[in-house]
This record gives sequence, structure tokens and C-alpha cells, in this order.
Amino acid sequence: MIPKRIEAILACPKCKSSPTIGKTVFCPKCGSSYPIVNDVPIMHVKNKREKIEKEILGTKSAYNLTSFSETISKEKKFLLSSQYNNPDEIRKLPSSVYKMGKKLYPPGPALNRVITEKREPLVDRFKNGLMLNMGSGDNFIHEKFINLDLDLLAGVNVVGNGENLPFLDETFDLIINQAVLEHVKRPKKIVKEMHRVLKRGGYIYIECPFLQEYHAFPLDFQRYTLTGLENLLSDFQRIESGVCAGPSATFGRIFREYCASFSDNPYIHQILKILAGWVIFPIRYLDLYLNKKKYAHVIAMGLYYIGQKAEQGRKERGKCFSS
Ligand SMILES: C[S@@+](CC[C@H](N)C(=O)[O-])C[C@H]1O[C@@H](n2cnc3c(N)ncnc32)[C@H](O)[C@@H]1O
Repeated sequence: MIPKRIEAILACPKCKSSPTIGKTVFCPKCGSSYPIVNDVPIMHVKNKREKIEKEILGTKSAYNLTSFSETISKEKKFLLSSQYNNPDEIRKLPSSVYKMGKKLYPPGPALNRVITEKREPLVDRFKNGLMLNMGSGDNFIHEKFINLDLDLLAGVNVVGNGENLPFLDETFDLIINQAVLEHVKRPKKIVKEMHRVLKRGGYIYIECPFLQEYHAFPLDFQRYTLTGLENLLSDFQRIESGVCAGPSATFGRIFREYCASFSDNPYIHQILKILAGWVIFPIRYLDLYLNKKKYAHVIAMGLYYIGQKAEQGRKERGKCFSS
């Protein structure tokens, strides 16, 4: 059974009206129906679902929407999230290699203190409201979150596409969107949808990379400068934005990839990366100092943005001004 709190906010991704819930999710308005797998509604528009399976999830990534039941093992996820940039190669490696990799892998090159200093207070503030983790992967933030992802991964409550969010207008108090915008084909569309499902006065917290190596998760399309990110999110009122992973993180990650790039063999490639990672990771502590510098964003690895949806729509604001 789909939990009541999710049932109440679901919308047909095609026509955005409220569906009825039975053995499937059914939209009486446009006649679309969506399967429910392991109590999770799979809210992909039918013809688009085939495209997503074939072009995005089925081919280039370790994700597997086709079987619906398969979630990637912790070890695979670990190696994938360790910025290996060819998931197809990773899939071919035996699981003993994943397990070994997990034990040997060094700490990451980024110290992301923005999560504790900026994201956590927002979560605390809205934990009694409705919170969406858009493009959650199998990342757990808080039990109150509704996790949406393209794929049926562990912890995902609703499978759907950020380009056509399966939620009613103005539903959420807080939307978190971390490490997703670089992976989407039409970021403007995703931002428009997040804006639609956010309540007026609600908050959005975004993180995305600027100087980071190619990483197909499941695909990789773009990077943003701070100005580019602010421009992309101009539908929101900017509360603050800046560096979440600084110049040293950039240096560490590029160094690791640089060393690994000497070998095309997936085993040696990983070993080089692990060795380089151990050599370079302590440099991350320099970001405690560098992240505060004026020019940190110029060579930052990652950026964050906190914004708010205006309390009033444009038309209503116009009315206020004229009255
Ligand atoms: C790099 S992972 C980040 C996962 C998680 N947010 C985190 O910070 O660990 C990117 C996630 O975005 C999801 N994703 C990519 N395109 C998406 C889309 N159009 N709609 C919803 N999720 C999407 C992927 O399936 C993947 O789980």
C-alpha cells in the first residue's frame, strides 16, 4: 500500500490532476495508469518510461529500472559514488573487487560543512511540514522526506522524472536537490517543476558541481558557475549561495582523476585512483581557510544555492502595487 501521506499529494505527471489509487495509480482525467512496485508508485509517463529505461537507465548506468526489483549493492554504489566515470565497466567487475575497493578507498577530497551549517537547519525548520528530496538516489537525509528518483533504488518513495514531477502544485515546504542538476538533460524544466510543487514561501536547497570530473550518474550533461547557477534558479528569490566544496577539493579530485587516467584498464585505473586519493586527501583541510576567501568560487568544486518561492505570484503582486 502506498502510504497515505504520499497518496494525498500524488498527481498524474501527464495532466497534473489527482489520481485514484487501487492496484495501480489511475488518472480518471487522462486515463493514464502507473504501476505500483513494492508499495512505490512508478510515475513515469508510459512512452517516456521506455525511453528512460533504454536511453538512460538501461545502457550507460548501473541503475536498472527494467527489473524494478534490483537495487545496486552497497559496494557497487560505493564505487560508483567514488566518482568512477564509466559505470558500464564497474558493472563488469566481480563483487569481491567492490568489497575490497570499499575497504581501501580513502576519505573524499571535499569537506562539505555547508550540509551541517546550512542544510540541516532548514531540515530542522521544516521537519513537521512536507519535504522532498528530488533525485534522492538512495541517500537518506531524514525519515520525513519523500524521496523521488528516476529509478527504484533503496529508500525511494516515488519513482518519477524531475521534468514531470508527479505531485500536486504547491505541495512542499522544502525541496533538497543535491548533485542532480548536472545529470539532467533539461535543467530549466526541472527547476520549473520544483518551483511548481514548492509552496509559496517554501525553500529550496541546491548543490551542484562546478569543477568536477565527468561522472555519469546515470548521465552527465553540464556544470555551473556561481552566476550560471543563480541564473538557472532565477524563478526563486535568492537567500544565499556560494561554495560548498572549495579549491582544495577541486585540486584533490582532479589530481586523483589525473593519476587514474594513465591507465584504461578498469582495475589499474581504480588502484591508481585509490593511491592518489590517499596521497591527496589531507589537502581538503585547507578548504577550512580557502572556502572563506573572496575568490573561492572561481575554482570551487561544488556550489550551493538556497532560495525561496515568492509568497505571492506575479499577478497578485501586480494587484498589490496597483491598489
Ligand atoms: C549523483 S546522484 C545524487 C544522489 C543524491 N542526491 C546524493 O546527493 O547522493 C544523481 C541522482 O539523480 C537522479 N536523477 C537523474 N536525473 C533525474 C531526473 N530527471 N529525475 C529524477 N531523478 C534524476 C539519478 O537517478 C541519481 O540517483
